[in-house]
Amino acid sequence: MAYTAKNLKKTTVSKYNKFFKMLRFYTAGESHGKGLVGIIEGLPSGLAISSEDIDTELKRRQKGHGRGGRMKIESDHAEIISGVRWGLTTGAPISLFIENRDWPNWSEAMSPQKDFEGSVQPVTRPRPGHADLAGAQKFSHRDIRNILERSSARETAMRVALGAVAKKFLAAFNMRVGSFIFRIGSAVLESAVNTASGADLLRFSKKAEASEVRCPENNASAQMKAAIDEAAKAGDTLGGKFTVFVLGAPAGLGNHTQWDRRLDGLMAQAMMSIQAIKAVEIGGGACLAGTPGSGIMDEIFYKGGKGFFRKTNNMGGIEGGMTNGMPIVVHAAMKPIPTLKKPLRSVDISTKKPFKAAYERSDVCAVPAASVVAEAMAALVISGVLLEKLGGDSLSEARRNYDSYIRYLAQF
Ligand SMILES: Cc1cc2nc3c(=O)[nH]c(=O)nc-3n(C[C@H](O)[C@H](O)[C@H](O)COP(=O)(O)O)c2cc1C
Repeated sequence: MAYTAKNLKKTTVSKYNKFFKMLRFYTAGESHGKGLVGIIEGLPSGLAISSEDIDTELKRRQKGHGRGGRMKIESDHAEIISGVRWGLTTGAPISLFIENRDWPNWSEAMSPQKDFEGSVQPVTRPRPGHADLAGAQKFSHRDIRNILERSSARETAMRVALGAVAKKFLAAFNMRVGSFIFRIGSAVLESAVNTASGADLLRFSKKAEASEVRCPENNASAQMKAAIDEAAKAGDTLGGKFTVFVLGAPAGLGNHTQWDRRLDGLMAQAMMSIQAIKAVEIGGGACLAGTPGSGIMDEIFYKGGKGFFRKTNNMGGIEGGMTNGMPIVVHAAMKPIPTLKKPLRSVDISTKKPFKAAYERSDVCAVPAASVVAEAMAALVISGVLLEKLGGDSLSEARRNYDSYIRYLAQF
């Protein structure tokens, strides 16, 4: 059916929603291009945003034991290009720009102008574990640089910048996002967090903030750092696992009525879309599969003044694709960095001759940085479903709707 104005009236709300998302965001830009561009559209007017708010998050992404040389070159700064006037959002699309500080060294190699064609040798050696070979085949490129420049995790700097804006929006509704690392290689966090307790999760993430590997325990942090150093010495790389959480989300964000509106699905896609993330779990995740149902469901209790509540949070705050009022808890696993000093076998796409994949400036472990990117993605997803619930073109209108919903929930 054509989506004319007349037909739109006939369609159901859910069909219409498929063509209309409350919050949309995009990134553009190459790793060694002029910089990164981001647009976020759908946030209400009246939200206070500054470059400093965004830069604080960008700094968090750049930290972490095991990062490569690039993090020493780059000190990211987000310039707000549009959608914010005198410190407040106007309701128009917000666009951001992060300059790549290395651009002067790449301005010819990455120039959009034809005049510089051939100024650098084409990259013909695909690296295992990267988008290089499949991307070149798919887009019919003989120079793999056309793929690697965009598939690089440099792009995540802009996700973090956009996520910083989303975090400010969530903060206006007393919602907080945090994370911590619980595994790097074989080094693991010993103490367990009570995921039913926001205070416990916050305590873990605050301690993680002071650790070079974003791990809340001193012993485990030291073991993780040692594991990274050992891997670096051996020319190897490490992956790991982290937890991301969102506190303060009221029950009823997300939707059980259609597969592509379920919050667990949206969250899993957001996490899996981060470069090198290979598994995502919500709440008890894969462990739930081996436990009898009687032992793991989050039973429902009620107390006057407190309302409905749970004593456990094995479902990670999501039931039926909707928040249930408990902390939203997501775990993700990152594979080891695919570029390593230890050579990996590959085949040149021009000569078809085998070669040993060469080392470039690269991270040994980027799990701490990935957890900051995951916070940004979680903030963006939750902002989207919150806006879907509240509507509102101005922050004050969204707030009125929020207050009324919270009052309604208290009386339910
Ligand atoms: C924050 C972050 C930093 C990363 N840094 C590097 C790096 O320095 N070198 C590298 O080879 N891969 C790095 N990666 C991983 C690659 O970008 C990723 O493995 C690659 O693009 C292929 O995507 P896939 O692993 O999702 O299939 C990083 C990933 C993240 C999230």
